[in-house]
Amino acid sequence: MQVVLKNTTKLCSSKVIPTVNGKFPGPTLYAREGDTVIVRVTNHGNHNLTIHWHGVKQLGTGWADGPAYITQCPIQPGQNFIYKFTLTGQRGTLLWHAHHLWLRATLHGAIVILPKLGTPYPFPTPQEERIIILSEWWKSDVEAVIDEATQSGFPPNVSDAHTINGHPGPVPGCSSQGFTLHVESGKTYLLRIINAALNDDLFFKIAGHNLTVVEVDASYTKPFQTDTIYISPGQTTTALLEANKDIGKYLISVSPFMDIPIGIDNFTSIATLRYKYTPPNPTTFLTSIPPQNATPLTHTFIDSLRSLNSKQYPANVPLTIDHSLFFTVGVGINPCDTCVNGSKLVASVNNVSFVMPTIALLQAYYYRIKGVYTLDFPANPPNSFNYTGTPPVNVQTTNGTRLYRLGYNSTVQIVLQDTAIILPESHPTHLHGSNFFVVGTGLGNFDPDKDPKTFNLIDPVERNTVPVPTGGWTAIRFRADNPGIWFMHCHIELHTTWGLKMAFLVDNGEGPNECLQPPPSDLPTC
Ligand code: C2O
Repeated sequence: MQVVLKNTTKLCSSKVIPTVNGKFPGPTLYAREGDTVIVRVTNHGNHNLTIHWHGVKQLGTGWADGPAYITQCPIQPGQNFIYKFTLTGQRGTLLWHAHHLWLRATLHGAIVILPKLGTPYPFPTPQEERIIILSEWWKSDVEAVIDEATQSGFPPNVSDAHTINGHPGPVPGCSSQGFTLHVESGKTYLLRIINAALNDDLFFKIAGHNLTVVEVDASYTKPFQTDTIYISPGQTTTALLEANKDIGKYLISVSPFMDIPIGIDNFTSIATLRYKYTPPNPTTFLTSIPPQNATPLTHTFIDSLRSLNSKQYPANVPLTIDHSLFFTVGVGINPCDTCVNGSKLVASVNNVSFVMPTIALLQAYYYRIKGVYTLDFPANPPNSFNYTGTPPVNVQTTNGTRLYRLGYNSTVQIVLQDTAIILPESHPTHLHGSNFFVVGTGLGNFDPDKDPKTFNLIDPVERNTVPVPTGGWTAIRFRADNPGIWFMHCHIELHTTWGLKMAFLVDNGEGPNECLQPPPSDLPTC
């Protein structure tokens, strides 16, 4: 992958963007389960950068995971680094993206992990496959947008459009016609849908057609039909589309979800599904676009997601728990000398706003460099919580590079409780290095006596990114079977920037063990 700058025009306006190989979105990485992937990334851009293989387990290869200052120092302009990892026990759609600053706005693309040769999909074989990458576009420079926001203490400007495979919807007066999905009557298509947007939960809908969801985050699901896909930043959803009309043009809508819209309006973008042999100027079938606050739709979608849990693909949900953690996730306000109102928005996990170190945590761990992080991340919030309803007095955060240590091979349950104190926002939480099972979710305060009795321990969906609903909670379980340091953060880039992130150290207590491979010789230094 060559990271190169490219002048690009969208929405009647041009700017220079970082791209991989001159493309936006970037190229698709195709591989099969079991393959070893080797990618040399050369940085011809003007920012430090890293590439993250979002959702790839990286068993034993934490060095190739990619988050800047967590597992590696960034690749500086003029430098390169070879990412090498093996795809084990996963098949389906994932994405790769830059993992430093807000570079993933334009540095992202699809990862397709096909089943092993000779292994069929556990659903009817589609005739064709299509990749659908949803993203956001700012007319101005994305790094400038966030820098300005960080200095002023205000939220940044929202994007100017959503894009579908790089195309905003048709804009009057601009030449863009939007993206067209060409299909042929009678065929079945596998759509690999990726939300690569920085900050928006999205709805995806095609007029007149249902979709059958068969896989999310490279893990098979029980098939279910829906007319709307709900997808958070970092998530992927693979669905079958039956082209069961003869001819015609059907609108595709990509619209934002925010269950309490806070007066900032993002655009709905439109694309078109077009049947082969459709004559010019046909009538276009419209779709009803979900309202921005269509919360019930998100609940229906989430409730329908189940692991396939077949003989071949069992759901191995941990039934006993070694580490039981309770994390509050949310946005708060902290004093700020340089900010316009004397305060700024911060985000935190258990009231700790994560401070990025200046050398990579995994390197500090491996080479036993002291003073880079502490292992005292709290297992519970500092005060007993009642974060829904009346705001508690304590919204104050502390800063720190604090990690939570998980025993190698231990089992973990995390209840993620959304605080919704300052901003009513959902937090699509992403864990590096492991998938997890989503065993429960609900609104209001998590009740430790009642709620665990309702957990699904049979066929919960397995994924790497899960929304924590506004003013609600989500419980996840996983086995910490991957040694190293693993980032966990909100995949809304704004919230990550504000500090909604933390990291786990997985080891057996004696420092790096042989299950973590030694660092590659070209690993960048800080
Ligand atoms: Cu897709 Cu840490 O991110």
